[in-house]
Amino acid sequence: MLNTEKAIDSLVEKGWYEQRNVLSVDEVKALGKLCQNRTLVKAAIGKGDSRAINEGIRSDNISWLTDNETDKPVIEYQQNLDVFRQELNQSLYLGLSELECHFAQYPKGSFYKAHKDSFKETDRRSITFITYLNPDWKEGDGGELRLYLPEGMVDIKPYGGTVICFKSSEILHEVLMSNTERLSLTGWFLKRAM
Ligand code: OGA
Ligand code: MN
Repeated sequence: MLNTEKAIDSLVEKGWYEQRNVLSVDEVKALGKLCQNRTLVKAAIGKGDSRAINEGIRSDNISWLTDNETDKPVIEYQQNLDVFRQELNQSLYLGLSELECHFAQYPKGSFYKAHKDSFKETDRRSITFITYLNPDWKEGDGGELRLYLPEGMVDIKPYGGTVICFKSSEILHEVLMSNTERLSLTGWFLKRAM
């Protein structure tokens, strides 16, 4: 289970939070299988008219979650994140109104170059929330999430069940090349539309 109190304190103090074993091995396997069985599409970058696929920057495949999911592990995941959304609002008055979330599959050899998830005051993405779904991840598999922090780089290992969350507009980050298939659920808590 996510330690929401610790997560909120850490987001305030450092801008990010990592916790291992948030999901059980069984939950990781169930969600990982659902990810592999979904219809995935090549992920795009940019917004509006400039939205495009650029495999030199980002080479993962994704499948967005909807409000009408039918698989129990997915519904439970969405419900748990909605509870966290409400706790974030109660503690930090962020005015988070919804979660957008996708499965992501990085095939062997894929990566996502350094970027931020939101840029301007008007961007609605406030908090990025990622759960890794690789039950057997080990050193050498690659695909670490590299955070570029004021004090230096931190590499997050994408062990199955690990959660990482961070302030979307503050933390520059990168997915290092994965040497094996890498699965995750990646989401963003959105601020109310202005
Ligand atoms: C993203 C992203 C990081 C990860 O999808 O924007 O940065 O570890 N993902 O999957
Ligand atoms: Mn990102």
